[in-house]
Amino acid sequence: MSGRITLSVIKADVGSIAGHHMVHPDQLAAATKVLAEAKQKGTLIDFYVTHVGDDLQLIMTHSKGPDHPDIHGLAWETFKAAAKVARDLKLYAAGQDLLSEAFSGNVRGLGPGVAELEMEERPSEPVITFHADKTEPGAFNLPLFRVFADPFNTAGLVIDPKMHDGFVFEIYDVYEGKSVLMRAPEEIYDILALIGTTGRYIIRRVYRKSDNLLAAVVSVERLNLIAGRYIGKDDPVAIVRAQHGLPALGEILEAFAFPHLVAGWMRGSHYGPLMPVPLRHAKVTRFDGPPRLIALGWNISRGRLIGPVDLFDDVAFDESRKLAQFITDYMRRHGPFMPHRLGPEEMEYTTLPDVLAKLKDRFIKSEDAYKVVKRHSETS
Ligand code: F6R
Ligand code: MG
Ligand code: MG
Repeated sequence: MSGRITLSVIKADVGSIAGHHMVHPDQLAAATKVLAEAKQKGTLIDFYVTHVGDDLQLIMTHSKGPDHPDIHGLAWETFKAAAKVARDLKLYAAGQDLLSEAFSGNVRGLGPGVAELEMEERPSEPVITFHADKTEPGAFNLPLFRVFADPFNTAGLVIDPKMHDGFVFEIYDVYEGKSVLMRAPEEIYDILALIGTTGRYIIRRVYRKSDNLLAAVVSVERLNLIAGRYIGKDDPVAIVRAQHGLPALGEILEAFAFPHLVAGWMRGSHYGPLMPVPLRHAKVTRFDGPPRLIALGWNISRGRLIGPVDLFDDVAFDESRKLAQFITDYMRRHGPFMPHRLGPEEMEYTTLPDVLAKLKDRFIKSEDAYKVVKRHSETS
């Protein structure tokens, strides 16, 4: 057993009450029971169970390292227990993200989203876990770029000697399954050229350049690609370490004060604002949204999870929420039109192929269409 601690955040939508709305308390209880037993047995050092919208969130610490079959197997068993509750209660979409019956050592590729950060605990180890519903991993691109590369967001990049060298971004191409390591500030224009395409190039990890300390991790699973078809938006999670030569807690949260437009929302097919909310508002109601984000603050102490503190439960974010609601109204008024509705290649639901098939023989040259109508009006 190494002295290193791993924080594993693994999430899945295994059913929810009254639609794709929120996890039922009995599911939280079932998940807590499984993880409490694992803690008793020593598989976990500590854990916390919560939800955002219809996604069940398992926050776990252990000393087994990332991608460990014991931990992934435990998460899988936990999701199965919560899915069983969903089936018993006839909750909606029971077991949705458990795409395969057979677990083979790792939940990656099976449906759940995973962010794992292995660390040598610092003398004090402040960490934030972010959990989003009704959006995709690329939703973290803009705020994480601002946290780790934008001096107008993060004062420490300019005035903290320990951060002044900058950070290294691992950017993952979800289509090719390949990553590129890029340095900020030297390559920020090239970084932005990639990560502005949020559906493809995702910030997966961020390292401090001076000592390669791993500062942030994002889940990059894309359920649509996993299943060969669109099963649901991926409702990502992220882990970000804070303070003492890393962005301060407030520099990290500051980037989320702007409720930027993200893909997801109703039927995984619309752009809407990412609204930062406290836990009590971690449910999606309006047009199945708007997309929501919670932020939980922790200290990790010899693997124990001290916390959480509900970081967006603060009047300082009221104006962000108000703006998000204003944007919600504005975007909704576009109804089925882009850019509220996603482009055809990104939509989770579409009837376009059927409509086009139906109209296949009715597409004619515009001049001929004109003549047809003219002929009609002359004969009637
Ligand atoms: C989006 C989401 C919901 C559903 C919508 C329709 O990620 O989960 O917006 O897409 O509620 O769901 P079904 O087709 O299951 O009725
Ligand atoms: Mg759902
Ligand atoms: Mg969800």
